Order: sequence, then C-alpha cells, then structure tokens
Amino acid sequence: MKGRNFLHHLHPPQIRRRTVQPLTTLGLGMAALTCLGVLLVTGFTLFLYYVPEPEVAYERILHITTTLRYGALVRNLHFVAANALLVIAVLHLARVFLTGAYRGRALNWTYGLALFFLLLLANFTGYLLPWDQVSYWAAQVGSGLIAYVPGLGPAAQRLFLGGSELGGETLLRAFALHAGAIPLAMVVLTALHLWRLRKDGGLAAPPEADNERLPADPWLYRAEGSVALLTFALLVTLALFFPAPLYERADPLHPPNPAKAPWYFVGFQEMVSHSALLGGIVAPLLLAGFLLAAPWLDRSSVPGGQWLARPRRRLDLLFLLLLLSQLALIGVGQWLRGENWAFLWPF
Ligand code: HEM
Repeated sequence: MKGRNFLHHLHPPQIRRRTVQPLTTLGLGMAALTCLGVLLVTGFTLFLYYVPEPEVAYERILHITTTLRYGALVRNLHFVAANALLVIAVLHLARVFLTGAYRGRALNWTYGLALFFLLLLANFTGYLLPWDQVSYWAAQVGSGLIAYVPGLGPAAQRLFLGGSELGGETLLRAFALHAGAIPLAMVVLTALHLWRLRKDGGLAAPPEADNERLPADPWLYRAEGSVALLTFALLVTLALFFPAPLYERADPLHPPNPAKAPWYFVGFQEMVSHSALLGGIVAPLLLAGFLLAAPWLDRSSVPGGQWLARPRRRLDLLFLLLLLSQLALIGVGQWLRGENWAFLWPF
C-alpha cells in the first residue's frame, strides 16, 4: 500500500518498547503534529475567502461564519487548533525538559524553541485578521510590547505596523506573515525537527532502559494513529462547543477599557503594568535565555529520558517555578484585571 510505504520511509524499522509506552512522551509531539495538520488544512480553506483590507476583512469573516456552508466549523476548528497547539507545545516542551530529553539533543531542542517562537508569532498575526474590536486592540497592545525589545524593538515595531500606526499596512503584513511566511517556515522546521529526532537515534532513553525492540509497523503506527485520532476528535468537539469569537467591527478611535493583549502575552502585559523594564525586557530575556541555555545548564551526569531525575532536581524546580509564575500572571491579567487595569476582586 502506497501510504504505508511512505510511513516506512518516515520511521525506523524497529523501535524500543518504551517509545510506545504512554508515559514516555504522553503523545504530545504527535498531538502537536495533528494540530499543525488541522491548522494548515483549515487555514488554506479560510485563505480562499478572506481579504486582508480593513474595509472588507470583518465582513469576510462574517460571511465565512454565517453564510458559507461549514464555514463556521472550519473557522472554529482553526481557532481551537491554534490555541490547543500553543498549550500542547508548552506541555511537550515541559515533558522534554522534565525528562532531560534535551541532553545530547541540543540542536533539536533549539529547533523546538524556534518552532515555539514561530507558533507565538503565528497566533499573534492571526489574532488581528478578523479586524474586530478585541483583535484590533490586542494587536495594538501586543505591538506596544514589541517596542520594549532592547535595541531592535522600535524598528521591529515599525516593521510590523508598516508605519507608525496600526492600519491597513499592518493588516497586509500580518496576513502575509500568517498565511505565507510563518506556515512555510513551520513546515520546514517541523521536518527538520523530525529528521533530527531520527538522526539522534529516536527518543532519549536512559541506558538501563529495557532494550526490547518492536517493529515500528504496527506498534508505532497504531500509537501515533490513536493519538492523532483522539486529538482530532477533541478538536472537533471543542470546535462544536466553543465558537471562535467575533466582536463588533474594529473602531480605532474607541479603545475598550481595559485593552488586553492576546491571552498568551497577558502575563507580560501584567508585568509591564508594574514595571516596563521587568515585563518588557528583563523577564522575556531571562526566560528565553534560560530555555536556550538549558542543555548547557544541566551539569548532571544522568542521561535524558528519565522523568524528574534526582540530580536534575534543582533545574526542574526552577523550570516549574518559572512556568507556574507565568501561568499565574496570565491568570491575573486575564481574569482579575478590570477598567484602567485595576484589580478586580472576583467574589
Ligand atoms: C509545532 C511544534 C512541535 C511539534 C509538531 C513537535 C513534534 C515532535 C514529535 C512528533 C516528537 C517525537 C515524539 C514526542 O516527543 O512526543 C518530538 C520530540 C522532541 N521535541 Fe518536539 N515538537 C514541537 C515543538 C517542540 C518544542 C517547543 C520543543 C522544545 C523547545 C521541542 C523539543 C523536542 C525534543 C528535544 C524532542 C526529542 C525528545 C526525546 O528525544 O525524547 N519540540 N517533537
């Protein structure tokens, strides 16, 4: 069968038994790959009907959602898969970190981080496309955050805006990045990521791991197929119950109060509200530096592939602390901030 022959090219003939045990990877890489596939297919469909001009973009999204057959489902799937991929990529990154699987795989870890950066950029550029009040002002806040990047910030902000203000030029740039350059770069990087995984000899495994081998066909194919089907079923279910939002058309003269960044940047917005230096420069640089340097910060002698290995405990704790504090900041920014960014007591 042709499809099977193709799969034989992508996989090694034999795998370790632990590769298909659920606790080894939690299926997160495959789940991420499924979301990416759904995003490319639904994204291409939306591309056929969308026009990146401020006068028509909003009407086009309305048309896709209300009059086009299955249009709402396709748009919801795209929205759900984009957000799910962000969450799954963070969990996958955490799984790789907490099993020390970056060890001896520094290049693939770096490819992964580049993928994650592209993922944030893809979400951010896509956010603006509906041209509604929330997306317009979120992009406004987000592009304000770009300006804080030391040295490059103001130039990068102008490049993204296509001038000094958010408008038609920005929408065109966001669209070109979102529907052209970023998906292309992501497909190339994902191929490199998976190729590197094979070059590195498959998943990281401690030397004492059982060396029992299984044929990839059918064991790995079944495991990957099950994760892909489960992920797809979950995405469709979520798309049926959680429609992609569309608020009133963007009004550049009337900002909502408060104007919030997209949820994944709200943690940094929260920090910026206390200190621009901390939230805009110090924290993002420290976080990115810590992740980039992880394979070299780990001085232990334990090989990768083991969850929460004792000698790596301090590094794992630091990682969890950073992750949880970022989540807490997102929670505060998203749910506990009201007008003029004043604290909203929920009870
Ligand atoms: C679109 C995003 C991504 C996709 C589609 C993807 C896909 C995959 C897949 C299918 C695997 C093998 C199975 C598994 O580990 O679950 C894998 C492994 C790996 N990924 Fe990713 N990944 C993505 C993002 C990332 C990120 C953000 C990182 C970390 C910075 C990362 C680092 C790694 C590493 C180091 C491995 C090898 C793990 C090992 O040897 O045990 N990946 N990835």
